[in-house]
Amino acid sequence: MCARLVTAGELTVSVTDRGQGPPLLLVHAFPLSARMWTPQLEAGPEGWRLIAPDLRGFGASPPGTVAPRHVRDHAADLLALVDHLQCGPVVLAGLSMGGYIAFECWRQRPDLIRALVLADTRADPDTDDSRARRQLLQQQAAAAGTGAVIDAMLPMLLGASSQARDPHLAVQVRAWAMENTAAGVIDALEVLRTRPDSRPDLARIACPVLVLVGAEDTITPPTLARTIAEGVADGVCVELADAGHLASIEQPRAFTQALSTFLGRLS
Ligand code: MLT
Repeated sequence: MCARLVTAGELTVSVTDRGQGPPLLLVHAFPLSARMWTPQLEAGPEGWRLIAPDLRGFGASPPGTVAPRHVRDHAADLLALVDHLQCGPVVLAGLSMGGYIAFECWRQRPDLIRALVLADTRADPDTDDSRARRQLLQQQAAAAGTGAVIDAMLPMLLGASSQARDPHLAVQVRAWAMENTAAGVIDALEVLRTRPDSRPDLARIACPVLVLVGAEDTITPPTLARTIAEGVADGVCVELADAGHLASIEQPRAFTQALSTFLGRLS
C-alpha cells in the first residue's frame, strides 16, 4: 500500500489514498497508524475513495513544529487535509482515538462531514483515574520508549477470541505501534487525556452515524457504543462477534461488510 507525503500549508502528513468515488476518511487508533486500515484499504468498501492519513507525529507523518496537545490540533490537521484535497464533505470514520478526533472534527466543521462512523470509541472524557494512568504511561514511554506503552496496552487491544485464534495479530499490532516514536506517543497520551466530553454534542449530531463495536471490547465496551447510537438522531449500532477493541483488524470482513452496508445507504 503506497503512502505519499502531502503538504498543506504548515502541515505535512503521510496519506494512503486508494480507489475512486465519494471520500471516506479513515482515522486510526492509538498507538497505531494508517497501517491499521490495511484490510479495508486492500479489500473495499468498493466504489469509495479511501483516504487514510497518519496523524501528525504517528507513522510516517512528521510531528510538525508544534506538538499536538489536544484533539483540536488533530482535527484542524484533518480538516486542512480535506480542504487541500478538495474532497469534502467526507464520510469520517474513526476508531477509538480516531473517534475522539472525529467528534472534534464535527464540532469544528459539521458542514464537511456527510456521515460519521464511530468504531470502538466513546463520547465521554477520561476519568481522573484514567488521566492518572495516561500520566504513568507518559513516564514509562519517556523512560523505556514506545515498547513500554504498547506492552501495557496490547492485552486489552485485542479480544480474547482473536488472541486465541491468531497469535500473529498481536505481533503485527506491536510492530505497527513500534514504528511510532516515544515523543509521538507521549504527545498523543496528552491528546487523549485532555479530550473534551462529547456527550453534550450527541443530540445535535444530525448526520447519519454508524457505531461499530467489538463484542469483546473492554476499553470501549458495547454499552458505551449503544449510548452513542441512541444519543444521535440517526444512529445505528452494529456489534461484531469475536472482536475486541481493534475490530477492524480482528474481524475485517464483518467490519467492512457493516461499513459497506452503511455507505450503501448514503449513495
Ligand atoms: C485507542 O485505541 O485509540 C486508545 O485505546 C484509546 C484510549 O486509550 O482511550
